Order: sequence, then structure tokens, then C-alpha cells
Amino acid sequence: MKHIIALLFALCLTNGATAQQSRKDIFIDSLINLMTLEEKIGQTGLFTSDWDVTGPTLRPQYKEDIKAGKVGAVFNAYTAKYTRELQKIAVENTRLKIPLLFGYDVIHGHQTIFPISLGESCSWDLPEIENAARVAADEASAQGLHWTYAPMVDIARDPRWGRISEGAGEDTYLGSLIGAARVRGFQGKNLSDKNTIAACVKHYAAYGAAQAGRDYHTVDISLQSLYNTYLPPFKACVDEGVATVMTSFNELNGIPASGNPFLLKDVLRTGMGFKGFVVSDYTSINEMVPHGFSSNEKEAGEQAFNAGVDMDLQGAVYLNHLAALVKEGKVKISDLNAAVKRILSLKYDLGLFQDPYRYSDETREKQVVMSAENLKSARRMAQKSIVLLKNQNQALPLKKGQKIALIGPFANEKRSLIGSWSAAGDWTKSQPLLPEMQLRVPGMINYAKGCNINDDSTQYFQAAIQAAQNADVVVLCLGESWEWTGEAASRATLGLPGAQTSLFEKLHATGKPIVVVLMNGRPLCIPELDAKAAAIVETWYLGTMSGQAIADVLLGDYNPSGRLTVTFPRHEGQIPIFYNMKHTGRPFDANNKYTSKYLDMPNEPLYPFGYGLGYTTFSYSSVTLDKTVMRKGEKVKASVVVTNTGKTSGEETVQLYIHDLVGSSTRPEKELKGFQKIMLQPGEQKTVSFDIDETMLAYYNYQLELKAEPGAFQVMIGRHSADTQQAQFELK
Ligand code: BGC
Repeated sequence: MKHIIALLFALCLTNGATAQQSRKDIFIDSLINLMTLEEKIGQTGLFTSDWDVTGPTLRPQYKEDIKAGKVGAVFNAYTAKYTRELQKIAVENTRLKIPLLFGYDVIHGHQTIFPISLGESCSWDLPEIENAARVAADEASAQGLHWTYAPMVDIARDPRWGRISEGAGEDTYLGSLIGAARVRGFQGKNLSDKNTIAACVKHYAAYGAAQAGRDYHTVDISLQSLYNTYLPPFKACVDEGVATVMTSFNELNGIPASGNPFLLKDVLRTGMGFKGFVVSDYTSINEMVPHGFSSNEKEAGEQAFNAGVDMDLQGAVYLNHLAALVKEGKVKISDLNAAVKRILSLKYDLGLFQDPYRYSDETREKQVVMSAENLKSARRMAQKSIVLLKNQNQALPLKKGQKIALIGPFANEKRSLIGSWSAAGDWTKSQPLLPEMQLRVPGMINYAKGCNINDDSTQYFQAAIQAAQNADVVVLCLGESWEWTGEAASRATLGLPGAQTSLFEKLHATGKPIVVVLMNGRPLCIPELDAKAAAIVETWYLGTMSGQAIADVLLGDYNPSGRLTVTFPRHEGQIPIFYNMKHTGRPFDANNKYTSKYLDMPNEPLYPFGYGLGYTTFSYSSVTLDKTVMRKGEKVKASVVVTNTGKTSGEETVQLYIHDLVGSSTRPEKELKGFQKIMLQPGEQKTVSFDIDETMLAYYNYQLELKAEPGAFQVMIGRHSADTQQAQFELK
């Protein structure tokens, strides 16, 4: 048995692409033939090592388990040295020497931390987002990792949900493009390349629609909404060749996602043609018991496996019960073989059977991790993720010679900068704004903490007020702590925590212009700031290069170009609020009480989807169409002329929205269907055109058929979802 894998390899030597595939099939089938039932079940088990857990560590004896062949994959272990050590246990002690697969949550960077995913999405810059994932994969693979639990593509329209920070915002079209870009970045051209890792699109499905924005809560949505809004980003990732899919914690319309054959078989395998393997989320199979879907863990295992979950993440349900289920005929051995084949197939594609240690490379690790080039990429991505929400009287960029009071609990905050799910990121290596500003404008910065992040104490107020009084401008850094975002971090109220808003009011009362720099993981309800601040800069959590990128924007070395990918409500009572809502039968009419509105609040959000300012201004011409009737197979070209009407060069994101005026099912008021980023010099004009084809008009109707329906369509092109020019055509 000693050289069994080498022997199998030698037997399977063939050339050519189909030959390669059949060589792989022969190899894996032969290997499965040699495996005992227990060895097969071992491959379906994914267990955490002793680092970074987000739930119960069910098997502290995981090293013994590896030795006993009970573990096919390990997560939360990295570094070339540590993964080598664990791999050695599997390769030297188990009968068939099947290598382990090492997974990890490499979400927004590995050690070089990029902005949180929501922040990155605000760049609308697909090549840059792809590059961020590429850099992360390069670093992660050099530290022995093979597999990341990303991209997270859950469409989220409720900012109370903490995990809104992990996705690409509220829009399906943009979320699909960003998900696919991340898959390309992680997986590269070939999984067998040493600097690529397998991606895992998650959380399948509709996890972002948790009721009341409470994490892990029930999801009960229409199938049309599932098909039109929540599934397309998964489909985009499957089309991009994503290697694996992770289920979600929630139930969907009564059936937990981890035991849902409709989702996993009908939609994912049959509908989308997914060929890779499916992994559960952290103990989500076990959780089907408290969901009230399974009477006990054994039954949960049967339901999950038969629904199509190939690998059990941390739950040990398969490990404890699959053998009995097979023996009792409740799980077919042929299905187990198929699941194991999918898992081994990824190990094969990664080249692990050729060399199980190929990714645990200390030399490459030293060269790649946090290299100067990676830090440069992270700074670029951070700059592009910043969204300028307000800039009255050109308060920004700061002027030369201004005395700056840098105030607030986030001015010198380090830990929050790398956000949640910051993987192997070391927060001590991130640069806060204070030292960066002291470096860049020496002698001009007067720092005061102002208040703590969460408590109501006003003890530091006086010193802050004094600092403001002695300055020309106040830069006030406010936000929410990183622990208040991400998993299990839902909030019912979305204002600034603790004494932060009253600190703002007190500083505003000094009469000095206040530039607010926000650090947070979700849209906040900040009407007071919007009313009174001179400028507001949304920076999310920008990662390792936070301080540098924020200073670049404040000092005018970078002209901010980010655009919101989530709507900012005025008040929590407006939630859910998103740009592509429906008209209703009684659309808003200020003069008619009996129309769809609030008595105490406008319908409009504080900042709409797609919104963001810069240091220059742009004007748009009206929209011209090359035809007003579109027949089968034709395209309509829609164009606008965009002019930079300001004094500096700037990047604009020209956005195309479409409204299907009458549908067999009612359609949203507008849906993003295209965008282009253009750079314009002062006074420069550019014609921006979009080719609209039938696929862009199609949607899943009541019968769940994807179709474009004849009739009138409104084309809207503009700066953001609430500021567009319009034209109309008809689909015949
Ligand atoms: C999260 C997943 C994550 C997994 C492994 C779970 O708690 O929901 O997103 O990939 O843990 O760390």
C-alpha cells in the first residue's frame, strides 16, 4: 500500500485533454475502489484546527482524527510550516495517504488586508476586485491553503444584518459581476497553478433575506424573488467555474438550506449545471434539529446527504452517522461514492496527489506575504472603495496650511481597520489615520479622542472642543466597532453608538467646519450628520492601508470615485429600503393621503444606490436611442454625452437602468443593467453608449420562465439610481 498513489498515477498516464479527464476519472475511481466505507466518510469531514473558530469546536482531538483517516479537510490552519505539519500526519499515517484539503476564510485579503467586501464593491471596479482576490490567493496559497470560503454573494437589503458587510450590496446585477470577478481572481487560469486557490460561493441560498435583519433567522420569500434577486450571483459564479458551494444557515420557505433538495439538486445541479462539491456551513447540518426539521442528528445527516451536501463542516454528523445510514440503506453507497469523487476531484485538480506539500512553501511565503506590491494593490483598492457622501463648499480636499483638529474614537483606532473576517490579517500592521496625517502634514494636527466607541461618557468632550476651537477644520472619525459587523452582529438601531452623535453636535456648535470620516460595516442612519457636517467620507474598513488611503482622499492626492452599492436609510423604520422597489398601485403623491408613504418620514433614503461624489462635477446630456423599436435579435444603442464640468480630472461611473413598464408580473421601478467607468479631464466630453439586447430585458416570470416580454421599456442613464436621464423604446 506504500506507493499506492504513485502507482495509480503511473497507471493513468495518458495525454491530451479528454485523455487527461479520463486519466483523472480512472485515478479517482480506482482510488475509491480501494477505499473502505470509513475512509470514504473520512473524506466528507471538514474540521477546524485550533484557530479562528466561529462556533463550537466539536473535535478537539482533530489531529488524532487526521491520523485515523476521519478527516478529509481542515480549516483555520495556515502558514507553510503548520499546514506541512498537519499534511504530514495525513500523508504518513493514513492507509491510502490521501492528502488533506486546507480551507480558510480568505475573504478580503489574506495577510495583506483589503477593504471589507462591501467597501470593495463600492469601487464598481471589476479588474481591481479581481486583482484583490488574486493577491489574496497568492498569499494564501503560499501559506499552504488550497481553498477559500469566498466569494460571499448574498444579496442584502437590510443593513441591520451584520453580514451585509461581507457581500457586494443590494444589487443582483452588480453582485453577479463582482462574484464572478472574485472567482476569477481566486482560481486564476488553472487550479493546479501554485498561486491559485479553489473558491467557494456562499451562502446558498437567500441568507441575506433573514427576517428583521437578525442573523440566522428565517427566510420566507417568493420563488420569483429567489430566482430574480438571490440566485443570479450564484449562477454567475457557477458559470465562472467556481469549485465549491457552501450552504447557508437559514431555512428557505420552510426547508433548511442544508437539507433542501430543491435548492441543491433541482436548482444547483440540474438548473445551473454545477459539478463541484457542496459543503455545509458551520454545523448547519446539526442545526436542522433545532430548526425543527430533523428529529435528531442522524436524521439530519440523512436529509442533508440525500439533499446533496457532500461535505460536513465541523458538525461530525457524517462522521458519526453516515456509516449506519449506508448500512441501513438510507444513504446509497453510489451517492457516497459520487460525493467522495467530487471531493477527491478537487484535490486532484489542485495537484495534491502529485505533491501534497506543494502549497506549503516557506520560500514563496516569505517573498509573497505582504510584499510591497501587494500593499500597493491594497492601497489602490482602498482608495477606490471610499465614497464621498457630502462635500459642502468644497470642504474637501483639505487646504494647505489649514490647522486640523483630528478627533474621534476612530482617529487612532487600529483593530477595526481590518474589519471582520480579516483572515490571517494582523491588525497591528495597519496604519490608522492619525500617524499617517502627522507624517503627511507635520505640525498641523491636533489630536483628541473625543469619546469612546460605545459608551455614553462625555469625559473627553472638553479637550475635543478645545482642539476644535484652535483649528481651522475638524476631521472627526466616527463609526462602529468591527465586532458590531459581520457574522452574529445584527443591530436593531443604526445610529452611531454611544456618545458619538452628541460629540458631533458639540463640535458643530463651535462653528468650525466638520469633515466626518466614517468607519463602519453597513449603511448607518445619520441624518444629523448629513444636515450639519461640511463633508462626509464613507471609508468602511479599508484594511491594512486604511490610513494612507484616507489621507490620500482628505489631502486631495486621490479624487474619490466610489459609488454606494447599498442604500442608506434615513431611519431604521424605512427598512427594507432599496433602489429597485416596485411602484405599488398607489404610488407616492404628496397631496393624496391614501398613497404609499409614511406620515412621519419621506419615502426617499438618505443616500441612494449608486450615489457618490468626487472633487469634480459631471453633466449628462439627454439619452439618445438609435431606434425606438427593438425586434427579435436586435439591439438598441443608448447613448449619453458626459462632460467633466469641474476643475480637476475625475472618474465617473455611468449607470444604465431599465424599467419594464408593464409585465406579466409587476417589475421594479428600475434595475441596473450596465455601467461604465470613465476618466475625464476638466472640460472633456465623452459619449458613453450601451448596447441593450433582449437578455437584459428578461426576468423570471410567475411560471419561473426567463423571458423578455414585448412592450415598452424605459432606459435611464445617469449618475446614480435617483438621478438619470430617460428615453423609451418598445420590444416587439
Ligand atoms: C460562516 C461562514 C464561514 C464558516 C467557516 C461560518 O460561521 O457562516 O461564512 O465560511 O463559518 O469559518
